[in-house]
Amino acid sequence: MPYQVKPLPFTKELTGISKKTLDIHHGKLYTGYVNKSNEIEEKMKKADKAAANASYSEIGELKRQQSFALNGVYLHEAYFNVLGGDGTRKGSLVDWIKKEFGSYEEWEADFKAAGLAARGWVVLAFDINDGRLHNYSCDVHNQGGIWGAVPIIVLDVYEHAYFIDYGADRKSYIEAFMKNLNWEVANKAFHDVSCKLGTK
Ligand SMILES: [Fe+2]
Repeated sequence: MPYQVKPLPFTKELTGISKKTLDIHHGKLYTGYVNKSNEIEEKMKKADKAAANASYSEIGELKRQQSFALNGVYLHEAYFNVLGGDGTRKGSLVDWIKKEFGSYEEWEADFKAAGLAARGWVVLAFDINDGRLHNYSCDVHNQGGIWGAVPIIVLDVYEHAYFIDYGADRKSYIEAFMKNLNWEVANKAFHDVSCKLGTK
């Protein structure tokens, strides 16, 4: 079954993130990652596996680019999923954040700092390795992620996510992202993973 483009999970206008930005982000960039993931998977079926080589081989390049394209799909889906709310924090995820980070404010300060420091993504993740919440970041879709960490709140800090609306002012974009957070969706993601594992 090929990967499918998922529609934006909200219809309301966002606060401080324009329709133009969203149209390009979802309609061109995210959709492009879905299409490339399918193209790569098709090409893998025909690639000469006997010619596999770490310096260069068709199968090697396809495997490398698959990790880029497919992480681009999943990270963007998680990012769009937590938008469309009004930023009102609620639910047991907030309680767990307080427990893990000392206070909500400490978590948010760390999350925002990671957002200014990263070149690609910031992820509040539930890490199944230790059963805890962490703010992880990475510079490229397929470099720096932690295996076994399940995304709960994902922030895209590539320039394409904010340059039309804010120029180089990434800080204001991060503030806008927080105002659009859908905490119900984030709580559901947290519950889904923690309940499945029976850790909470
Ligand atoms: Fe993006």
